[in-house]
Amino acid sequence: MKKWLACILVAGLICLGLLACEKKENSIQQEDQGEQLITVGFSQLGAESDWRSANTKSMKEAFSKENGYNLIFEDGQQKQSNQIMAIRTFIQQEVDYIVLAPVTETGWDTVLQEAKEAGIPVILVDRMVDTDNEDLFTCFVGSDFELEGKKATAWLKAYLEKKGIAPEEVNVVNIQGNLGATAQIGRSEGIRYAAAEYGWNLLDQKPGDFTQAKGKEVMEYFLKRYPELNVVYCENDNESFGAIEAIEEAGKKVGTDIQNGDIMVLSFDGVNGEALQYVIDQKIACIGECNPLHGPRVSDIIQSLECGIKPPKLSFVSEEIYVHDQTVKSVSVDGKEYSVTTMTEEVANKKAEQFGN
Ligand code: AHR
Repeated sequence: MKKWLACILVAGLICLGLLACEKKENSIQQEDQGEQLITVGFSQLGAESDWRSANTKSMKEAFSKENGYNLIFEDGQQKQSNQIMAIRTFIQQEVDYIVLAPVTETGWDTVLQEAKEAGIPVILVDRMVDTDNEDLFTCFVGSDFELEGKKATAWLKAYLEKKGIAPEEVNVVNIQGNLGATAQIGRSEGIRYAAAEYGWNLLDQKPGDFTQAKGKEVMEYFLKRYPELNVVYCENDNESFGAIEAIEEAGKKVGTDIQNGDIMVLSFDGVNGEALQYVIDQKIACIGECNPLHGPRVSDIIQSLECGIKPPKLSFVSEEIYVHDQTVKSVSVDGKEYSVTTMTEEVANKKAEQFGN
């Protein structure tokens, strides 16, 4: 085909696509005025952490009536059976889209097949499902949890080296998230990999379910069982709050001088203003950011699908590392360089505003 003819054809197709999108936008505006909205069934996994609250808020704000949506929100209360029930109800209600934040990775094939047979696209948000059939979901948007873990541990390695602390002096315990969740699998793998690779002693790993209460309980156990521990790798900030409480109640100090009795805390999320303040106060040495603002991201995906545009199968959010001082300026993971943000009042205020707390 002649080049010019091909160009005209491509331009024509783009115009048709834009017209279709414009038509859709107009129809959303009309729907907003009392006609049909896009109905989205969102199965949220629970309300275990500050991160989760920020995520729910972001989703509810994005899927408002003003934005052209009718949101049906279901809280799974940490139970996969509740989430499966919610999806079946969404199918019966003939929603336009199902959005699922799965509590754990396995066991979704049957219900996702039911959604597929009903012709309802399923968008995964935050966490993944473990399936051999990737056609069962339309796409995923969320964090790369293993990368988060690798970045935080790469920071720890670089920091210890600069402070002249030998790997064999490092005795780490890991308070994990709820077992089987993508965030837990990725972050636990991060510390397991680092310990094996860098020669740290990984004393123990136990689930703290991403909550402050369980984080504290697990830390109390670790303190009694492993008096030599000097680093605690918590898989979210709420667990860190619990761990810090337990450490201080045991008469020990959180900090970075681990050769003189401090216990160093590493954490993930960076959503709560208190956690960011803890970094400034050197109670938490390092937080791997986990960004919860997925509402607009999922809405963009739905708008693309409405326009007939296929979104990427997997979209990972880019995230920062927050640290207490400037000893380490950047870290290298799998051949890529990541800059490190030193936490200050100014940065903390900006972040707290961004996350709405
Ligand atoms: O899946 C994201 C994780 O789940 C967040 O790190 C944690 O706080 C939440 O509960």
